[in-house]
Amino acid sequence: MSKTDKSSNGGQGRSALATPTDLSENGVKAIAAALNGLAADAFALYLKTKNFHWHMSGPHFRDYHLLLDEHGDQIYAMIDPLAERVRKLGQTTLRSIGHIAKLQSIKDNDEAFVAPLDMLRDLEQDNRAFSASQRKAHELCDDNGDVASASLLEVWIDETERRTWFLFEASRGADPTGH
Ligand SMILES: [Fe+2]
Repeated sequence: MSKTDKSSNGGQGRSALATPTDLSENGVKAIAAALNGLAADAFALYLKTKNFHWHMSGPHFRDYHLLLDEHGDQIYAMIDPLAERVRKLGQTTLRSIGHIAKLQSIKDNDEAFVAPLDMLRDLEQDNRAFSASQRKAHELCDDNGDVASASLLEVWIDETERRTWFLFEASRGADPTGH
């Protein structure tokens, strides 16, 4: 077998990694795709949250810097359980930063400077979009009897809505620059 014969190697690799599951094949494939998308978004949102934590400025520095650190820890803690749910369903998960970049729907922010309020608003929108994706994945889990993934998602949706709440409140009432 040639080393470039990806379909044969891929087929072999897939069957060797096929953890047994009694859930339907179509169901686990759809759930895995949704959970891998969430894991990629969790990485993207984690890094953006830390980016803003590291590059925060202004008189509210301490509050915002610490808030984003707390949020980053919470987001990071989702990644391993998400990827392991996918493996428990007999599917494969994230392999690299390049793989994350292909799957992420949350956009990076590589701007040289972002004003404090813009950081909070950007993250608030991302967290809102993230909870919408989490709800969609939850629906898929419900439809296919994956109660374990569904119950993890319920906690993460609550956490994501809490982050949205804090980001929303923290960005109200300051002047337009956040200073
Ligand atoms: Fe830090």
